[in-house]
Amino acid sequence: MIQREPNIAIFASHSGSNAEALIKASLKNDYPAKVVLVVSNNSNAYVHERAKKYNIDSIAVNKKEVSGNLDQFYIETLKKYEVDIICLAGYLKKIPEILVAEYENRILNIHPALLPKFGGKGMYGINVHHAVIESKEKESGATIHLVTSNYDEGPILKQGKVEVKEDDTPESLQKKVLAIEHKLYKDTLKEFILKNFI
Ligand code: GRF
Repeated sequence: MIQREPNIAIFASHSGSNAEALIKASLKNDYPAKVVLVVSNNSNAYVHERAKKYNIDSIAVNKKEVSGNLDQFYIETLKKYEVDIICLAGYLKKIPEILVAEYENRILNIHPALLPKFGGKGMYGINVHHAVIESKEKESGATIHLVTSNYDEGPILKQGKVEVKEDDTPESLQKKVLAIEHKLYKDTLKEFILKNFI
C-alpha cells in the first residue's frame, strides 16, 4: 500500500487519444492518480505533443534514442519517476518480461475488441475491426485487462460494448469503439486504484 496517489506512466505508440483522456482525467482534483510520464517506442508519435500540452514528460525508448540496455533503461526510468502503475494505450511493442514481472498486476492495457475474442498475434489497430466485421459479429467493444506474459490473456477488468451494424466498415467500427474507450479507460483505472491502492 502506498501513502500517496499512485503515479502512472502511459505507454503509447501513435496518436495517444487514450493517453490524453487519462492525462485530462488525472488532472481533476477528485481523480486518484497522477500521470507522471509518457513513454513511446516512436520518437515521432503524436502522443509526445499531447504530453507537452499538459507539461507531462515524454520520452522515446528505442535503440536509436537509448544507448545501452533497454530493459535496464525502462526499469531505471520508471523508478526515477516513482511509477506505480503502467497504462498501455495503443502501445505496439511487446513489454519486456522484466517489466511484466516488476509490475505484476500493475500493468493495464486497452484492447479494441471484446476479449477473449479477437486478441493475440496480429490483432491490433484496424486488423481487429476487419476481423470483427468478417466474422459478422453483432457487437464489439473495448476491453481493459491486466497484462501478463501472455499478452491479451490477462484478467479482464472491464468491457464496454458497441453494436455492429450491417453497414459498418472496419473504419466506422474503429471510430465507434474509440469513442467509448476514453471513458472506459479512465473509469476502470479509477476503480482499479480505489480497490487496490487506496
Ligand atoms: C485504441 O483503439 C486502443 O484500444 C488500441 O490502440 C488504439 C490507440 O488509439 N490498443 P489512441 O492512440 O489512444 O488514439
